Amino acid sequence: MANIFSNSVENHILKDERFLYPDYVPEKLPFRDEEIEELVFALKPLSVGKKPTHVFIYGSPGTGKTVSLKFVLKELEEFSDRVKGVYINCFEFSSRHSILAKLTNAFGYPVSERGVSTEEIFDRFVAVLKSKKITPFVIFDEAEQLLNDDSKKLLYDLSRLPEQFKINIGLAFISNDNFFLSKLDDRVRSSLQASSICFEKYTHVELKEILNERAKFAFYPNVLSDGVIGLCAAHASKNNGDARVAIDVLLKSARIAERANSKKIEAVHVRKSFMQEKVVKVELTSTLSEKEKLILDYLTKNNGVDSGEIYSALKNKFAERTLRQAITDLEEKKLIRLEKIQKGKGGFSRVIFKN
Ligand SMILES: Nc1ncnc2c1ncn2[C@@H]1O[C@H](COP(=O)(O)OP(=O)(O)OP(=O)(O)O)[C@@H](O)[C@H]1O
Ligand SMILES: [Mg+2]
Repeated sequence: MANIFSNSVENHILKDERFLYPDYVPEKLPFRDEEIEELVFALKPLSVGKKPTHVFIYGSPGTGKTVSLKFVLKELEEFSDRVKGVYINCFEFSSRHSILAKLTNAFGYPVSERGVSTEEIFDRFVAVLKSKKITPFVIFDEAEQLLNDDSKKLLYDLSRLPEQFKINIGLAFISNDNFFLSKLDDRVRSSLQASSICFEKYTHVELKEILNERAKFAFYPNVLSDGVIGLCAAHASKNNGDARVAIDVLLKSARIAERANSKKIEAVHVRKSFMQEKVVKVELTSTLSEKEKLILDYLTKNNGVDSGEIYSALKNKFAERTLRQAITDLEEKKLIRLEKIQKGKGGFSRVIFKN
């Protein structure tokens, strides 16, 4: 009997879909020249073993923070063999112990995570760095996961390496939380002296160009009907200017078009991909806790409320701590988003929107 996969659709639209994968690092990053230039300026001393400026990169989801840092890291390692980069996703590694073990491993000195004390690993890390003429550049992505006492101590240790051990190191922190630095202890913040770089949301026009650039490599020629890129960009623009959403919708639409045996991606395929997304959203919504549902209901009627207002409106229903947790959970599920909005002179407030 024929294998059930032997009849599956042929690729006549997607030449190489890997160019549309979220972890692909493109050669060109349109609209990030200035941010990349600032990163280069801050990090260049690393290439000659000198002290760089640490950096803090913040901005909404899908604004190119991770991809830009990975791009800069790749270029830096190609430019100088004195630098070694280590990329850490703090959702996976957030304890001082696990991060130090990962760093020490990356420098060619394997330590098992178990059976060795954190202090021992730290000593080994310092010894390894002293014995090599290589400067580490560590990227902490999703850095808000490091706001526990244990990992704050790690940041303190790392920031003090130059003074304490004459070891230079470059640190980059990436977060959606604009206030990450201010949540660190004064002494850590003052040792870090990090320079902040904001990644703004992309506009509709910018998203279009980003998509066109990626499409050049991912698709066979002439497979995009007029308006398809614009439609994907408009959808992402409504979803907070998130380039990830734009690229994902384009890939999904291409698959739908191939499955339908169409020669081109048409607007109808893009609309179908929006529908798929909605189904996922509905499924996700059905798994929410009562508290999360309550918040979403409140936001349906009062979208764009000040966080203080939602606390006072719902305070009779649950404790503030629980409410805060539910808001964080909903944000992680990308069902709501928090934006910092200027209020009068000098003041800011956090406003919650339903996505
Ligand atoms: N200027 C750009 N040019 C090309 N692709 C881009 C650009 N900006 C972002 N992308 C793509 O958009 C997607 C999301 O980007 P990235 O992962 O860097 O976002 P992020 O800012 O780190 O988001 P989050 O805060 O959710 O982690 C990736 O596929 C990335 O390659
Ligand atoms: Mg990221």
